This record gives sequence, C-alpha cells and structure tokens, in this order.
Amino acid sequence: MRRMIFLAVAVSSLAVACGGGDKAAQAAPASAPAAGSDLSAFEVEHGIGPVKEALVLGAVDPALVAQGKTVFEGKCTACHKMAEKYVGPALGEVTTRRSPTFIMNMILNPQEMVERHPVGKQLLAEHMTFMANQGITVEEARAIVEYLRTQATGTVKTQ
Ligand code: HEC
Repeated sequence: MRRMIFLAVAVSSLAVACGGGDKAAQAAPASAPAAGSDLSAFEVEHGIGPVKEALVLGAVDPALVAQGKTVFEGKCTACHKMAEKYVGPALGEVTTRRSPTFIMNMILNPQEMVERHPVGKQLLAEHMTFMANQGITVEEARAIVEYLRTQATGTVKTQ
C-alpha cells in the first residue's frame, strides 16, 4: 500500500517536472519498471544525478569527441580501458549497454549511483573499488559520452 502511494507521487511529480512535453514523456515512461527499489522509472533507466532529462544523441560532433577524449585521457584512464576490465569496467561498449544520460550521471554522481542504483550496486560488487568523483562538469561529461560513442563497435543507445 505504501509502495502504491509512493509510485503515484513519483509519477505525478515526474509529470510536473517534465511539463508534459512529448520528448520528456517518451524519456520517462511511467510504465518502466522500478521494481524492488525506491527509484523512479527515469532513474532506473537513466541513473541518479544532476541530469534529469534524457539526452538524445544526434550526429557525431567531432569537436565534442576531441574534447571528451582529452578529458577522458586526463581523468579516467587511471581506472578504465576500452577493451578490458581494469580498476573499473571496460568502457569501449558502454554506450551500447547504458543510456547517454546514465553514463553522464555515473560520471557526475558515482557515489550515489553505487549506493542506490541497482546497476551501480552490482558494479561495485564486481569491482570492489569506488569510482572516484573527478569533479567533472556537465559539459565535460557530455563530451566524454560523445567520445565513448565513437569507441563502440555495437549499436549505440541514442537516448
Ligand atoms: C578510481 C578509479 C576510477 C576512476 C578515476 C574513474 N572510474 Fe569509472 N568506474 C570505476 C569503478 C570501480 C566502476 C564500477 C563502479 C564502482 O565500483 O564504483 C566505474 C564505473 C564507471 C562507469 C559505469 C560502467 C558501466 O558498465 O555502467 C562509467 C560509465 C565510468 N566509470 C566512467 C568513468 C569516466 C568517464 C571517468 C573519468 C571522468 C571515470 N569513470 C573515472 C573506477 C573509476
């Protein structure tokens, strides 16, 4: 019963937050499962953090790729490789398994992600190390997504 009330509140507050726009409604389907957690459907799909609207990827932007590569090489390669697990998971195909928004929220809010998100909890259990918060800005995180999408060989999730 408490759970039903919570869900009703979560869904109605999402509707308010999204203002009912078509794109936003698509980004946060009320029917998506949030089973076994206190997360909203949006958070289950796109992660918990500062990015609260689903990012939709357009054509690859080469300038953004270059910026993302620079930030990645400076702040991420101590723990991540593209093709193999290192301190953290291999990231070459991460854009095929997670939404762009999920990746940004993981970069921007790793601690809460591993404490509250089922995927984050699972990753922490596998890697036994906390991903560090690198003080990345939202713009830098967006650029990293653009770089990572160019590393994937599989089908990249565009939203
Ligand atoms: C101190 C090591 C460390 C650093 C530095 C680090 N990470 Fe991580 N990362 C991890 C670990 C470990 C995990 C798995 C979750 C956990 O255990 O905290 C992870 C998880 C991730 C995930 C989720 C992967 C998936 O399969 O969903 C992404 C995306 C990610 N990191 C991106 C980055 C980016 C981008 C940077 C640089 C801005 C970065 N990480 C810096 C250690 C690190």
